[in-house]
Amino acid sequence: MKIVSSARASKAADLTGIGCFEDAKVLLEGAASLPAPVRETVRRTLDKKKFSGKAGESFFIPLTPKTGGSILLLGLGKKEKFTLEKVRRAASKLLSQAKLFRHESVRFDVDSFARGFSDAETAAAAVEGFRLADYHFGKYKSRPSPAASVAEVELVSPGRGKALARAVAEAEIVSEGVIFTRNLMNEPANVMTPARLARAAKEMAAKNGLLCKILGPAEIRRLKMGGVLGVAQGSVNPPQFIILENRAHRSARPVVLAGKGITFDSGGISIKPSGDMDKMKFDMGGAAAVIGAMKVIANLKLPVHVIGLAPAAENMPGSTAQRPGDILTCLNGKTVEVLNTDAEGRLILADALSYAKRYKPRALVDIATLTGSCGSFFGDIASGVMGTDPDLIRRLIAAGERTGERCWELPLWDEYFELIRATYADVQNTSRKASGAITAGMFLKEFADHTPSWAHLDIAGTAWADNPRPLSAIGATGVGVRLLVELVKSYL
Ligand code: BES
Ligand code: MN
Ligand code: ZN
Repeated sequence: MKIVSSARASKAADLTGIGCFEDAKVLLEGAASLPAPVRETVRRTLDKKKFSGKAGESFFIPLTPKTGGSILLLGLGKKEKFTLEKVRRAASKLLSQAKLFRHESVRFDVDSFARGFSDAETAAAAVEGFRLADYHFGKYKSRPSPAASVAEVELVSPGRGKALARAVAEAEIVSEGVIFTRNLMNEPANVMTPARLARAAKEMAAKNGLLCKILGPAEIRRLKMGGVLGVAQGSVNPPQFIILENRAHRSARPVVLAGKGITFDSGGISIKPSGDMDKMKFDMGGAAAVIGAMKVIANLKLPVHVIGLAPAAENMPGSTAQRPGDILTCLNGKTVEVLNTDAEGRLILADALSYAKRYKPRALVDIATLTGSCGSFFGDIASGVMGTDPDLIRRLIAAGERTGERCWELPLWDEYFELIRATYADVQNTSRKASGAITAGMFLKEFADHTPSWAHLDIAGTAWADNPRPLSAIGATGVGVRLLVELVKSYL
């Protein structure tokens, strides 16, 4: 699918999307820049009050010789509640309707969507909407389904200038990063092993001008990463520790991103029920988000020193697996009593967070499909955020509002530590009581105590979709990529 931008509608597109707000007075604003006959058609439709402009609503006006192409009115809801996410979803809707009616070319009337945001921001959101909605993972189907496809999208904006062209190009880079992450995640766990993930990171780094270092099992043992080793010991697939670096401003203290890379989470000896266990191939979603974000950061040439860490391991119940009750010593010397081998993500992140100490991070953020607790609390509407620095948490929440990858804070009050104080070690990896998402955060805090600015993102509910979503087919969503890139931009 080709996406182009132009100042004037070139030739007749099969389907043109026009944004309309709910408030009747502004309903016609969107049609202002259109040719008179088209405007007339839209006006007549609106007069009949068949379309109210509610968010998500759409109205199809079929092809007539006068309009020169069909029109899709896209409801944007109330003007006061308008966000760029409405633009992304409108683009997605336009694309799915175009496919349904087998239209090959689509036009997007940027100005009718640009309210409170610049044309450039609006066009960028539209590009993300088109690209993310167009993605599907079909590589293992021996006979690809003959799904309809759109050949060309034209973004029309009369004031089209350099800023808009740059925003569109950047949105392409961002979308490419999200899709890269989705592709890593959607691979089955028999293909996407820790070694394979490390290779993918290494190849990506070479192509995109990032530094990359992979620590193999020997190096991980030498460093005494007890958490990574404990989790990995039940699997034949050895662990890897991925390190990526954006070279810009290398003398400055970096922003460090760390992602959970469990390529499959069976639960280990504390084995999971089999029903949804297939979904645990997505348990490297945090690592994949960090790797995808690093790709975007490099391609956008963001002048910020950023380090990406991704500990990768497979959590299996082999005869050499760790047992409940085992005690591990992590990289920072703290001891952990493993009450439940299914709380493995925090064990590998403990070492990654400890490893980050050497960088003296300006900010340290980890991202992980960490707890079912967080998933059942926020559903797929938001990711959980916790941490020690209110300013960092505020930046993440703001980045979430901007990108549509929402985050919401959970508290890490000291009292919660009592739930993970261990009998035989410094800390235990689970709480025997409730508050699973928070106690997981409290556990991680013990390993991020070297840095004043630390936050943890729990993406258990948002990393993949069980049903099609406006911006994602079933499967990996790539959540976190746009969020982390936006966060890094806030340090520009
Ligand atoms: N990867 C899972 C968390 C998860 C579960 C993500 C379901 C998405 C959907 C994690 O490793 C895990 O198993 N967590 C346990 C922790 C518990 C044993 C304290 C959980 O949340 O049940
Ligand atoms: Mn687990
Ligand atoms: Zn897990």
